[in-house]
Amino acid sequence: MKRFGLKKVFSIAIIIAFLLGANQMSSTAAENRIFNDMPHTGNVFADMEKQIDYFKEDGNIRSDIAVRTLKMHISGVALFQKQGQTDKVIKQMQSFKRLLDNQKSSGGISGIAHDVLNTYTQYAIGKINGSFNSDNVMKHIKHLSVDIGPREAGSEGERAGAEYIESVLKSYGYETKIEEAPRSNRVELILKVLSDNNKKLPLRAVSGAPQTTGDGITGNIYHAGAGQPSDFTAAARGKVALIQNGGITAGAKVQNAMAAGAIGVLIYDNQDRFTLPSVSLGSVRPNIPVATITKKDGEAFVSQLSKGNIEVQLSIKTLTNQKTVNVIAVKKPKGIENPEIYYIGSHLDSVAFAPGANDDASGTSTLMELARIFKDYDGDKELRFAAFGGEELGFVGSKYHIGNLSEDEVKRTKVQFQMDMTGTAWVPASQLFINTVDGKSNLVSQSTHQAAEKLDINKDLLPVHMLSRSDHVPFHEKGVPSALFIWMEPGTPPGGANIEPYYHSLEDKIEHVSPERVQLTGDVVFKAISDLIGFQENGGNNEEASLKDAS
Ligand code: BES
Ligand code: ZN
Repeated sequence: MKRFGLKKVFSIAIIIAFLLGANQMSSTAAENRIFNDMPHTGNVFADMEKQIDYFKEDGNIRSDIAVRTLKMHISGVALFQKQGQTDKVIKQMQSFKRLLDNQKSSGGISGIAHDVLNTYTQYAIGKINGSFNSDNVMKHIKHLSVDIGPREAGSEGERAGAEYIESVLKSYGYETKIEEAPRSNRVELILKVLSDNNKKLPLRAVSGAPQTTGDGITGNIYHAGAGQPSDFTAAARGKVALIQNGGITAGAKVQNAMAAGAIGVLIYDNQDRFTLPSVSLGSVRPNIPVATITKKDGEAFVSQLSKGNIEVQLSIKTLTNQKTVNVIAVKKPKGIENPEIYYIGSHLDSVAFAPGANDDASGTSTLMELARIFKDYDGDKELRFAAFGGEELGFVGSKYHIGNLSEDEVKRTKVQFQMDMTGTAWVPASQLFINTVDGKSNLVSQSTHQAAEKLDINKDLLPVHMLSRSDHVPFHEKGVPSALFIWMEPGTPPGGANIEPYYHSLEDKIEHVSPERVQLTGDVVFKAISDLIGFQENGGNNEEASLKDAS
């Protein structure tokens, strides 16, 4: 009896603890969900159902009835898909879009829920019907952002990216070239862990501290806690001091490290964030190099130190005579003098240390896939695909390219479509904004809206907006109708840019890119340009594409 009683009390306690815990979890999950990414498992119908649950939790879907209605429709479509009845899948997806419109106007679902579920639907239709295949885009994004990684203008990464893009475009039969545009001096930052396969870590130079000479400094790491005088012993001499940010000033930490004979300082962050911490030395002017690193990397050093020495090399130096690179691929019409020119652009560079998956491997890879499906075009227009370098420095590559065009070429240039950040997975960025420099509609936005209508894509999903900030600007300045395609939050004010928190950070990773949004971007831009240049497909050439990811 007694034992039973105890057991009972114990299990009730567990149940209460579980309920409290679960409750806590679901409330934080609900608060954060709106900042989450669209689920992508490769099964579009399962992803939609999951997204519907999230929208119910965060209030973007208001009633259980709306949830049930939407899910019922999706499971019906999924069944047709399983039975291989593709025509019925398409038809049902089209009626699902009407259902979403109705749910939105009756207030059952929010605008964002409408847009996101609509995009999943459009993805499924595009994957079955279209020529543009987002699977190919994702493979290019992986190569650029994971295998190659950061592609800062002038760096080896940018060059490697350019060579990859050129080889792909060449393989489609385009005439290609790499242009080299001069860029300003570049501060090259290298932190190499010599005792760990020369692994390179991201770092930020702290201003006020000197650059290094030769190959930089090499030494073992000395863990110096928060950098108080008492954190240093004689063993710090000749080593690189690893100090946690916070508490005393960075200036004091560095002074204490110098007094102990350290040859350099690495300050690691004391909070998790997407960027490298920026610290100030105040009036302290050290004679040893100082850089900051992430919390994760700093803590990894601390834990590895318990197993043995860590040897690092730190180099901070200014490089002169830097060149950033453009990749240009051209398809000229046969036997036509002075044809009209149609540009599709993107930028291949990233900011330093950012993988640049959405900004702008996504746009560059969208460009490559467009080049693939236009490769057999034999109409009377000239097509140019331009992946520019140095965009992040102020459109250095595109300005250089345009500056070298003849007046006649500029005159013959009819449009420029700039693909930049074509697929964030961040849920709130639910609309594909067509950004012109003056905020007015032009040939790019008009042709895209006409294409959307033909594809039964709601025009509301494609607002015309005023925004500069990419390579469409130099084209606009030469009088060429141009626009930048980027996913942003509905209601973003003119000139504003409400975008994902991963922008220009270490978190701009492929995990945060949505193949669904890439597919919609590619489908609508492909249709718009096809209609402008009179491209007729000889039947769909998308046999290998299916609703399942090719992997
Ligand atoms: N992809 C961005 C532009 C962008 C950012 C568009 C946010 C919409 C929202 C681009 O690569 C970029 O960062 N551009 C620079 C341009 C600057 C150096 C002139 C920017 O906006 O800071
Ligand atoms: Zn960009």
